Amino acid sequence: MSTTIELVPSILSANFANLAADARAALNGGGTVLHLDVMDGHFVPNITIGPPVVASLRKALPGATFDCHLMIENPDQLIPAFAEAGANWISVHQEACVHLDRTLHLIESHGCKPGVVINPATPVHTLNYVLDIVHHVLVMSVNPGFGGQKFIPNSLNKMERLAKIRESRALTYRIEVDGGVALDTVADVVRAGAELLVAGNAVFGHGDIRQNATNLLAAARSATLTRA
Ligand code: DX5
Ligand code: ZN
Repeated sequence: MSTTIELVPSILSANFANLAADARAALNGGGTVLHLDVMDGHFVPNITIGPPVVASLRKALPGATFDCHLMIENPDQLIPAFAEAGANWISVHQEACVHLDRTLHLIESHGCKPGVVINPATPVHTLNYVLDIVHHVLVMSVNPGFGGQKFIPNSLNKMERLAKIRESRALTYRIEVDGGVALDTVADVVRAGAELLVAGNAVFGHGDIRQNATNLLAAARSATLTRA
């Protein structure tokens, strides 16, 4: 199956007082999907944005694809509000969902693409019975909660495994990676099979946002050329 590499800038490391302009710069640099990290201070030890911020960004960027990564307990309660605010994709953590199948169908019923996320300590086999209903699988390559953390190399095995399962079961989910993706790790994740590359600190953390996005995407694409 052929895959398309896409850069998915995570606004977590953007300047929140200048959010729309920072997001626009990352999209102008080649980002095609915007990653919005939602944290509740319970499932993860940090608090970020809620539906009102998503709605404001939606007004500022009417044509952008929003990938909402919910790091929250009881996501069913807030999925309708995020869909209403303008989310296109909504992903939930396997670890946060007792009734994961129901939650993924709930996302779909609100007109969004459902995704499932696994933490670094969660094995791929826990997703066996939902892989046929998800639009994307997000492999966390850091423990969720903060930007700018160090990439966890074990996550590469999970991307490889997901790519093999997709092929053997003739499924269509896309493989996303989140955490520590930067110029020094991007080739490894692409070679392991990731195609939706979330990057926060590497895009927004220093220097020129647009140029950072362009450079990271170029590095990812050159890794595809050398992929075995
Ligand atoms: C972490 C978030 C990530 C974060 C990644 O919990 O889910 O999306 O922004 O940040 P970097 O790319 O800086 O590791
Ligand atoms: Zn994220």
